[in-house]
Amino acid sequence: MSGKSQTQCDLVIFGGLGDLARRKLYPALYQLERAGLLAKGNRILALARRHTDTDQLRVDLEAQLRQTVPADQLEGKVLASLLQRLEYRCLDFQDAAAYECLKEWRQTSDNELVIYMATPPSLYGVIARNLQIVDCCSERTRVVVEKPIGQDLESSRDINDQLAEVYSEKQLFRIDHYLGKETVQNLIALRFANNLFASQWNQNHISHVEITVAESVGIEGRWGYFDKAGQVRDMIQNHMLQLLCLIAMDPPSDLSADSIRDEKVKVLKALRPITPDLVETHLVRGQYTAGSSEGELVPGYLEEEGANKNSRTETFVALKVEIENWRWSGVPFYIRTGKRMPEKFAQIIIHFKPAPHYIFDPDQRHLANNKLIIRLQPDEGMAIQILTKEQGLGKGVRLRQGPLELTFSEAFNAGRIPDAYERLLWEVMRGNQYLFVRRDEVEWAWRWVDQLVSNWHDHSTQPKRYAAGTWGPVASIAMITRDGRSWYEDA
Ligand code: BG6
Repeated sequence: MSGKSQTQCDLVIFGGLGDLARRKLYPALYQLERAGLLAKGNRILALARRHTDTDQLRVDLEAQLRQTVPADQLEGKVLASLLQRLEYRCLDFQDAAAYECLKEWRQTSDNELVIYMATPPSLYGVIARNLQIVDCCSERTRVVVEKPIGQDLESSRDINDQLAEVYSEKQLFRIDHYLGKETVQNLIALRFANNLFASQWNQNHISHVEITVAESVGIEGRWGYFDKAGQVRDMIQNHMLQLLCLIAMDPPSDLSADSIRDEKVKVLKALRPITPDLVETHLVRGQYTAGSSEGELVPGYLEEEGANKNSRTETFVALKVEIENWRWSGVPFYIRTGKRMPEKFAQIIIHFKPAPHYIFDPDQRHLANNKLIIRLQPDEGMAIQILTKEQGLGKGVRLRQGPLELTFSEAFNAGRIPDAYERLLWEVMRGNQYLFVRRDEVEWAWRWVDQLVSNWHDHSTQPKRYAAGTWGPVASIAMITRDGRSWYEDA
């Protein structure tokens, strides 16, 4: 992370004992502490309903961090310093009177205030109103909220309205943690700092784009949440559309949050609706059955704990998305994401068109398009597949395809790549909104997703089955093959 600027602030975590706080926020805060990015007077207050106290939380968290932070990054002094900042208060989030404890805590410091709502979205409104009663809403307050912002456009408006009654848009930081990933931020640098790409980034030179976000995990005990959401609401409405926007948007006039977000919104507005006549060819929904994942036998979605055996919820989606504007007319974006796929990996592939006239061995014509491969995880980095001549006498001009490779952790001695939450927490503390999602982005994304969901409900029946540990239903391969193309790992 660039520039070690620190801001004096208090971080208050609603849901401070919850899964998100434990798995993501405290480890991220540990790394920020280690990097010297937390100012001396910064304080952290965890709030939750459970009757425990600061001492106990410190003990628990120390044990957890000692287990989860990699040994070569674990430093006793850093840990002690982080725990020293941390306090706990028991709070019923619905009980307005109980918020006095927060007011008292705040009176002992003049720091800026960051409220992190690591709670179900149904609580955002009531927490915001109660914070207003105890004066935690001045312009020096910033509020972080997690996805999902609603289940559809209407419910997301409701949540956004409730937040807007207390906080202005400038104070709201809606997290999409994909925006905090190193490679995702690099997309902006790649596209707009390199004229080599900037000048080629359109339908004249690009034939199609693939975006794959595959997960090897299943639903990880989250049946209650996941079955209502499904992969479209859980991944497409937010992470996948954000990636698509960053790939497809026009150059912003500067790097300010609003310039970038204005451009993303234009892409969302230009997405071609997947109307009923397109559902068959542009959408594949899948649901995993029993299979094997990373060498272990795993149950199917309908056999997961708590499952409703008749569920039609999708755990995999493949889509052919089109963007109706000058830059992208005729360039399909094939996107797919699923649970229980063979490995955890995410990558974007830009397939360039071949040169206008081909002069090499006709047998090698299929090699003749360059690809830019952008790896989000693992091994964050990029590669350009270029064509050169095979070496040696007697080979004629046989083409050979090979990568020009840039692995971020190796290049420039970059070392450890920060987790998305480290970057996002740090940016919130600095008040920088460019990695956060504006209200209209959330709502335009819901508009597109709502029509998709409603059209498949009218149209289709069961999601297609795929065995855990495979690349999704065969229909997703057929979807791209129909256009004479293939997913990159099948190529
Ligand atoms: C979350 C989804 O937003 O992103 C999860 O709710 C998903 O279902 C996760 O597993 C994927 O994030 P990452 O960073 O592990 O790719």
